[in-house]
Amino acid sequence: MKRSPHLLSVSEKVAGTVEDLIRRKLLKPGEKIPSLREMRIKSGASVTSILKAYTLLECRGIIEAKPKSGFFVSVPQCDPLPLPMVPAQKSAKEPYDELVLDSFIQATSNPQVVQLAESAPGAELLPTKHLFRLLRKTLSATTDKIFLFERPEGNLELRKQIAKRATLHGTSCSADEIIITSGGFESWNLCLRALTKPGDSVLVDVPTYFGVYEILKNLGLKAVEVPQSARQEIDFLKLKALLGQKKIAAGIFMPNFTKPYAPVMSDQFKADLVMLMAEHSVPIIEDDIYGDLHFNSLRSKALKSFDRTGLVLHCGSFSKTVSPGFRLSWVVNSKYQPELLRQKFLTSISAPTLQQHVMAEFLAQGGFDRHLRLVRAGLVMNMQRYVDCIEKYFPEGTRVYRPPVGPIMWVELPGGVSAVQVYRRALQKNIVVGAGPIFISNGSMDHLLRIPFSAALTKRIELALKSLGALILEELDASRGVST
Ligand SMILES: Cc1ncc(COP(=O)(O)O)c(C=O)c1O
Repeated sequence: MKRSPHLLSVSEKVAGTVEDLIRRKLLKPGEKIPSLREMRIKSGASVTSILKAYTLLECRGIIEAKPKSGFFVSVPQCDPLPLPMVPAQKSAKEPYDELVLDSFIQATSNPQVVQLAESAPGAELLPTKHLFRLLRKTLSATTDKIFLFERPEGNLELRKQIAKRATLHGTSCSADEIIITSGGFESWNLCLRALTKPGDSVLVDVPTYFGVYEILKNLGLKAVEVPQSARQEIDFLKLKALLGQKKIAAGIFMPNFTKPYAPVMSDQFKADLVMLMAEHSVPIIEDDIYGDLHFNSLRSKALKSFDRTGLVLHCGSFSKTVSPGFRLSWVVNSKYQPELLRQKFLTSISAPTLQQHVMAEFLAQGGFDRHLRLVRAGLVMNMQRYVDCIEKYFPEGTRVYRPPVGPIMWVELPGGVSAVQVYRRALQKNIVVGAGPIFISNGSMDHLLRIPFSAALTKRIELALKSLGALILEELDASRGVST
C-alpha cells in the first residue's frame, strides 16, 4: 500500500521527486541527476537526507554513482518495450551472400546513401580538437622519423599505454605481447592466418559481424556457428558437442557485444568458455572492439582476463572510440606472437607511423577516460533519440532491444515482415540498413534489423527512419492482405 505523501520521510520525498522526473522523461537514461548541492537548494532538504535518497535509488537500480562524477540515471538492461521472446528463427528466402559486401562498399562511397548500418562514431563523438592539436604538435616538433616505417609490432610508447590500460581492466599484459594493426579487420585476418590453413573450421558465435563471414570465405575457412540459446549468452551444450565432434582450428567470439536476445556474457560464463576451449586446445580470437562502450558503471571483463594458457588472442581497437579513420587496433598474445608478427609484416609491414605517434601522445596525456565518458553519454543520448524515433515511425508490434554495451540495437519487425525485403526496398530509396540474415550464415533472423545509433540523429537520419517505418508498414499490410 502506498504511504500518504505527508507520512513520507524527507529522503523518500526526494527519491520520489527524482523518480517522477525519470518517469516523465525529464531525466533520461544516462543523464546526470542534480548534484547534492543543487538538490539541497531546490528541495530545501539536508545533504544527508538527499544522500540517503540517492543511495535508496541506487539500491533499487534506478540511478548509479560514478566515481568523481556524481549520480546518473541507470540505463535499463532491457527495453521498456517488451523484451522480445525468442521467436522461431525465421529464414530469409534469399541467401545472405548476395546482400552484403557490394552494397556495403557502394554505400560507404556514395554520399547519396543514408547509412543506417555503420557503427563507427560520428565526428561529433570524436576528440577531434584534441587530435588536431596533437597532429599539429607532432608535425611541427618531430624529426623525419615520422615519415619512416614504424617497427612491425608497432610504436613502443603506444603499446606501453595500451598494456597499462589493459592491466588496469584486469587483462594483465606487457608491451611485448602487443602488435599494433591497421584496424579490426586486419586483426582478424592476422589471427586467422596465424592459426589456420584453408579448409579448416572456425567456430563463430552468432549473430556476428558480417565481415567475419567475408574474411572466413576469403581465407577458404568454414564457419561453424555456435548459436545463442534462449536468454543465455551462447548455447554452451551445443558448443561442447561441436568441440567433441569436429576438428576446430579456432573460435571467434565477441563477449562484450549485444546479441538480440541474450545478455552480455557474464564473468562466470567467460571463465567457463575460456576453460572449455583450453580443454580442447582451441585458440580464441576475442573481438572486444565495443568493450569500452559500456553504459553501466563498470567495464565488462575481457575473455583474456580468464586466460591461463595463452590461447586467447585479444583484439582491441580505437576505431569505435577515438577515430575510425586512424585505422589503429591491436592484438594481445605472446604464444602466437612470432607468427602474428610475420603475418603483419606480410600484410602491411607496419601500421602508419604518424597515427601511432599521435595516439600514443593522446593516451599519455590522460584524457582517454574522460573522452570515453563523453562518448558513452553521447551514445546513450543517441540511443534514446533513435528509440523515440522508431516508436514514432515504425508500425505497432515493432520491438526494440536496447543494448547495455555498444552502439547497436536490434529491432524486431512486426508480423512476418521480412528484413531482407525491407533491406532491398530501402536500398532503392538510398538507405542501407542491416538485415538480420547478414549476421548469421543460415539465413535465419529475417525478422530483425540491426540499427547502429553511433551517428547523431540528424534530420536526414530521422527522415530515413521515417521512410523505413513507412516501408515496413507497407510490407506488414501486404502480408495481411490489406490493399493500400
Ligand atoms: C564487431 C566488429 N569488429 C570489428 C570491426 C572492424 O573494425 P575496424 O573499423 O577497426 O576495421 C567492426 C566494424 O564495424 C565490428 O562491428
